[in-house]
Amino acid sequence: MLNTFQQADHPALPKATADEAARQEFTKSFKGFIQSTLLPGLTPIYQTRVARKFEKDHGRAPADRRDIRSGMVGDIYFQHYAAANRIAQELLWESVNGSVDRQLPELIAQAKALSASTKAQLVIPEGFTPPRYVTALDIHCMPGGYCSEVCEDDVSVGALYDRGVYLYSMGYTGPNNDDMGRSVVNYIKRHMPDFKPRRILDMGCTVGHSTLPYKELFPEAEVWGIDVGGPCVRYAHARAAGFGLEVNYAQMSAEETTFPDAHFDLVVSHILLHETSGKAMPKIFAEAHRVLAPGGLMIHADLPPFDLMDPFTQFILDNETWYNNEPFWGAMRDMDQIALAEKAGFNRADVKFDTAPMAVMEFAAAAEGYSQEASEAVAEREFTAGEFAPGGGWEVLIARKPLAQKIAA
Ligand SMILES: C[S@@+](CC[C@H](N)C(=O)[O-])C[C@H]1O[C@@H](n2cnc3c(N)ncnc32)[C@H](O)[C@@H]1O
Repeated sequence: MLNTFQQADHPALPKATADEAARQEFTKSFKGFIQSTLLPGLTPIYQTRVARKFEKDHGRAPADRRDIRSGMVGDIYFQHYAAANRIAQELLWESVNGSVDRQLPELIAQAKALSASTKAQLVIPEGFTPPRYVTALDIHCMPGGYCSEVCEDDVSVGALYDRGVYLYSMGYTGPNNDDMGRSVVNYIKRHMPDFKPRRILDMGCTVGHSTLPYKELFPEAEVWGIDVGGPCVRYAHARAAGFGLEVNYAQMSAEETTFPDAHFDLVVSHILLHETSGKAMPKIFAEAHRVLAPGGLMIHADLPPFDLMDPFTQFILDNETWYNNEPFWGAMRDMDQIALAEKAGFNRADVKFDTAPMAVMEFAAAAEGYSQEASEAVAEREFTAGEFAPGGGWEVLIARKPLAQKIAA
């Protein structure tokens, strides 16, 4: 079934001309075609040609995703699939970039006006240096990455991300691109109905897609989103104001924030970790532990670890590492995050992985936040291995800081 619902408009969002909208819609449909038509073809190709040839050449069956990849890369069907995927990704950003460039002065003026209309804080420190793992390449082929600033008060990469990510996820994260945040909040409300966080920190918030549901569903809480990208938090601040939500944003690294110890009851992130590095992740966990109050929760929603899936699915997902400028995508999935959380100060017994079902797939949640049409479009669709949010749930690492922790002698 086709996904027919559109991104919800808001005052900070770039507006597309008819031509721009047509190009953008094409890239979304092209991605949909690749996912629904080309991707399923990889399984029979692997089973009938590649695995057999591998076995003949090596005298054994492929053992892991690396073996599978070594066989698949020479196959013409896979080459066409991977090339089409890369082209779709580049076209997607290009279709939005021109539109953002055309209206940049108006987007900046609009963001400034929106930001001026809210009491929420926006903190952009002088001379902030983002980490190299963010600036060294254009992650997921997004021109300019998250941090490029082309003029004063720039919001361009924020605007680019807001529209581009909607096309990337083909709308399946909901009209406000907020399914991850909404799903985690729903998860908290369902499993911990008495948990009422007073202060919430969203690390690596980009433009606040996942941050806003926390304010919406915990309206009494003070909510902060932090990101290393200046244009992202500037845009996020304006976007929240456009939705009438008071959410604070700061350009800050999750590795080392300026918040006091034990300041937050809830520290979350959504698809942040796989865009960092092996050195940064332990620091991010340690920082989350430091700023959490006793009894507080750290929740990271990100890509499921590879050991939860079969080698062929691992191979398909790992194509993002190879062809979509996501250098840490595969390595992060191999890391032992439970051990990392323990090293950061959490007790192993208080750490676990779980699945937060996608909010857009849940009828009750859909009735509150999404149209019937949207929820049915997603719920009726069959997800293929390797697709966005396979199985319709977000993997969450959850750790609770103990109420009282023994202090080492
Ligand atoms: C995929 S995006 C996250 C999307 C966002 N959380 C959401 O749910 O819409 C990853 C973000 O993490 C940010 N980032 C990477 N390393 C960071 C760090 N050390 N501290 C804060 N933000 C970081 C990037 O700038 C980027 O905006």
